[in-house]
Amino acid sequence: MTTSPVERAPISSAADINLSDWDFWGRPMGEREHAFRLLRELDMPAFFAEPEVSFAPPGVGYHALVRHADILEASRNPDVFCSGAGGATNIVDMPAEFIEYFGSMISMDDPRHARLRRIVSRAFTPKMIKQFEADVETAAGQIVDDLIATGSGCDFVTEVAARLPLKIICDMMGIPESDYRFVFDRSNVILGASDPEYVSDPAAIATSLLTAGMELQQLVQDLAAHRLGTPTDDLISALVNANIDGEQLTAQELGSFFILLVVAGNETTRNAISHGLRLLTDNLDQKARWLEDVDGRAAGAVEEIVRLAAPVNYMRRKVTRDHVMNGNLYRTGEKVVMYYWSANRDERVFAEPDRFDIGRSPNPHVGFGGPGPHFCLGAHLARREITVMFRELLRRVPQIEAGPPERLFSSFINGIKHMDCTF
Ligand code: HEM
Repeated sequence: MTTSPVERAPISSAADINLSDWDFWGRPMGEREHAFRLLRELDMPAFFAEPEVSFAPPGVGYHALVRHADILEASRNPDVFCSGAGGATNIVDMPAEFIEYFGSMISMDDPRHARLRRIVSRAFTPKMIKQFEADVETAAGQIVDDLIATGSGCDFVTEVAARLPLKIICDMMGIPESDYRFVFDRSNVILGASDPEYVSDPAAIATSLLTAGMELQQLVQDLAAHRLGTPTDDLISALVNANIDGEQLTAQELGSFFILLVVAGNETTRNAISHGLRLLTDNLDQKARWLEDVDGRAAGAVEEIVRLAAPVNYMRRKVTRDHVMNGNLYRTGEKVVMYYWSANRDERVFAEPDRFDIGRSPNPHVGFGGPGPHFCLGAHLARREITVMFRELLRRVPQIEAGPPERLFSSFINGIKHMDCTF
């Protein structure tokens, strides 16, 4: 699917860029940075035809929102820029058979979205939050014990970064350890289907996605059946037994919410942690600064990691009525794709945007989404996981360094699949 760098024409102007061309996403990161810089300089957002995918016909096309101001404005205005009508996590409209598995609150609008989010938010009780904070400490400690036991290093992504969010989200859901691998493999397929390591045949992408969705839904149905009526103290119990002002999740809502949570909980924080180690390895001055005051500088460092990592590259919205935003017209039925990765490097907002500065303040990045109803539900948990992981690493293996990253081939997730670490 990718071509070697020598075969690619250089990008010298915005006219050379096509964000719907799969080949674009295989280019080296420096070229990606250059391309988005060119797009940010345009007076109006570039408009692209939709990417070709095997499972759905292309729609009308999309405006690429690459500036911070446009993403803030679109996120704040969900009446005009809606998340339903085909889904927020893909550019091409989601086919009907996908909705059952992948049509949760992230791809809904109010009032349905608000209702789901209300039920779910109330299941995140203070007791549950306190419990998972304690679990994060224990799990991170264990993972770093295992890292140290290797004696010299390992694949940082699979052995360190991926393990913490996987364990925490599975514990929250009440998924037993014997099923961790099952969940991990399916969530890799769901967010990494464009990468041949996870789905080798591009023609099999749709079937692989549906199978992974179906298998995860089966898992939650089995778990839910045990907990209905005899609740334990995990999130699935809270969700199946939740009856807030007469509101309850249907089996289908529970299934797709579960898939959203395990996928969002796994694939994002893992990448933030992996990018974090890479950034610290490339910027030893910032690592030394963090080491001087590990706890005191953690909050700023974590935000800066999420800013530059931008693990979720974009979300999309559909335009519900003709609307002028920041001087540009958006027509009913068109789509906008909000490139968080680009907004987090917008030179109008961030001084020296490519510089990793753990003391950057203010740092109004949109890594967890823009302000609005869909702002990341797991931001608090993710920040906690990244903080605790680096606290353990910096205290116990301060000499740790990352090798070259093996990137995920994806336009949606800014992922690292494998990356050696040594200490
Ligand atoms: C560094 C880690 C993470 C990043 C970068 C991230 C990013 C995002 C972004 C950009 C959105 C906005 C969607 C939109 O506006 O359409 C979002 C929403 C969401 N995130 Fe996260 N996320 C992270 C971690 C997590 C974790 C750990 C969980 C679960 C435990 C989670 C669960 C969700 C859910 C459920 C939504 C949908 C909220 C809604 O539609 O109301 N995320 N996330």
